[in-house]
Amino acid sequence: MKDVYILGIESSCDETSASIVRNGTDEIATVVLSQIDIHTNFGGVVPEIASRHHLKNITMVLEECLNKANMTMKDIDAIAVTYGPGLIGSLLVGLEAAKTLAFVHNKPLIPVHHIAGHIYANNLIKTMEYPLIALVVSGGHTDLVYMEDEFKFQHIGGTLDDAVGECYDKVARVIGVGYPGGPVIDQMATLGKHTYNLPLPLDDNSYNFSFSGLKSAVINLVHNEEQRGNIIDKEDLATSFQEVVVDIITKKTLKALKEFKISRLILAGGVAANKGLREKLSTVCVENNIDCSYPPIKYCTDNAAMIATAGYFLYKQGKFSNLELNAKSSVELK
Ligand code: KG4
Ligand code: ZN
Repeated sequence: MKDVYILGIESSCDETSASIVRNGTDEIATVVLSQIDIHTNFGGVVPEIASRHHLKNITMVLEECLNKANMTMKDIDAIAVTYGPGLIGSLLVGLEAAKTLAFVHNKPLIPVHHIAGHIYANNLIKTMEYPLIALVVSGGHTDLVYMEDEFKFQHIGGTLDDAVGECYDKVARVIGVGYPGGPVIDQMATLGKHTYNLPLPLDDNSYNFSFSGLKSAVINLVHNEEQRGNIIDKEDLATSFQEVVVDIITKKTLKALKEFKISRLILAGGVAANKGLREKLSTVCVENNIDCSYPPIKYCTDNAAMIATAGYFLYKQGKFSNLELNAKSSVELK
């Protein structure tokens, strides 16, 4: 069969990225331009600033990706782009670039759901086999997804309020360790001890999560200690917080695997880069004879290689869109 080269474009949050992937498995070239340094000053992503930077950089990122791959648009079979969910102004930049390229070069346009992208990042490491359960943990999502087969998603549970990555970022802000908070807290957690007592959030029988109570508990703890004139041990707090987060995610994920009788787990999304979560889930999966896999860190956080990979499977199914495709800030995974 002829090789299929998909050009992926991702701009849903604060990373402008383009990538070329062959046959949904081989990454040919990827460029990720992160705006983290710009948003750090504000303690989080400022949507208006993010879209302006996407606009400034998208052409350069696309050119650099093609140059890196030593390819031209003639070599590309289709263009896959994130159409949602995400920040609307940011999504629109990638989407308009994709539509323009599809129109000018007469290529099929493939709309990709951002979370499908995160899940399919796993295919860049090893061919995904079904059925499986995907744990999607990022700045915008905390979802358990059952996949009976390729591109068949059944949402079985998710957060009722804050996403887990969002909770990491807010806790990091409260203890003053910068943005994005996830990687910093993850690192600090390896250095501290579990000394602070925090509640296990939404410890019930459902597959849902809730992190806003835990976030408030951390904020209250920090303020109370400050008022008493006590100094918070940030590393101990990071360890205590991370253990609670990892415990509840592991507990519900294992319950889903057992109840759905599934022996494959894949992790996806920025928080899947978390060392504590990877270690705990790997251990628990070994104990329960479950095959657990997760992408390397560069494929966990936002990137266009995952979009090109998911796009390949939609290409095979002929799921193309016309040029009227619009961006959606919130859209169900299907
Ligand atoms: O998937 P992603 O790049 O963007 C979204 O689609 O949201 O995820 C970004 C989130 C941020 O909240 C960041 O703090 C978190 O992933 N994150 C981590 C780690 N690395 C990134 N959270 C915990 N531990 C990490 N090592
Ligand atoms: Zn993401």
